[in-house]
Amino acid sequence: NIVYLKGQFMASEKATVSPFDRGFLFGDSVYEVVPYFRGIGFRLQEHIARLEHSLRAVRIQADTDWAGLMDELVQRNGGGNMSVYLQVTRGDCGSRSHSYDASLRPTVFACCAPVRNFAAVPAEDVVGISAIVTADLRWHRCDIKSTGLLPNILVLQQARDHRADEALLLRDGVLTEGTSCNLFVVRQGVIYTPKRSSDILGGITRELVLGLADANGMQYQEVDIDYDSLMSADEVWISSSTRGVVPVTRVDHSPIGSGNKGPVWARMFELLARYQQQ
Ligand code: PDD
Repeated sequence: NIVYLKGQFMASEKATVSPFDRGFLFGDSVYEVVPYFRGIGFRLQEHIARLEHSLRAVRIQADTDWAGLMDELVQRNGGGNMSVYLQVTRGDCGSRSHSYDASLRPTVFACCAPVRNFAAVPAEDVVGISAIVTADLRWHRCDIKSTGLLPNILVLQQARDHRADEALLLRDGVLTEGTSCNLFVVRQGVIYTPKRSSDILGGITRELVLGLADANGMQYQEVDIDYDSLMSADEVWISSSTRGVVPVTRVDHSPIGSGNKGPVWARMFELLARYQQQ
């Protein structure tokens, strides 16, 4: 397993980071997860643009050929279907102090792991997942892909304690997203999703889903979704780069709609799979 750290490719066992790295001490860092299918980055420029948004928002200056780095990492690991993890921390500050010196050199780390190509699975074989709804414990800059993921981890574990696969997050009476995915609901054939704001991550898959809906005459609206409209929806789905679109067929132990995967999900799944395989 080859990883990239501080300018070099190396075996993962050789990769070490200082305990005074601000990523370790403070979670002072941002990240991206980029899917590669058949050795090629999927929506790569969109992921790089979002990384640059995160870096700018937290004022980390890192000037790297991100595409070149990730392409080479995937090639060195044999290509194919991979999920690339890329993290940029503010750097090693040599001692623990909240304040930082603007001249710190950021630490760049990247690794990759094989991932299943969601488009290679027939829609019939996709299994609906279950979710719970719980309070969104996160900060108010969820548009930044920060590695400070403690709230996400705690609520996902809460879901697992309830034998559910995901946690859907509720803030001020409206649903925001899942612990690492965006949220969609369908009612009478119309797709609804929370509006983009600093309370959600602008998902690359979310944008693609809305673009595909537009291009294929499927109606959608970006709106507030409350608990009752979630529970009474015909369909609920989540989306992410590595999972594509996945139907959520049970929420808080109750079936959604018929309790089966819905027809609007099936159409979007096919559109996404076809788009990805072009
Ligand atoms: N998570 N919302 C959150 C909070 C996320 O962490 C993610 C992605 C998404 C979906 O975004 P995208 O479609 O760009 O993958 C939404 C990645 C996959 C992760 O943390 O592993």
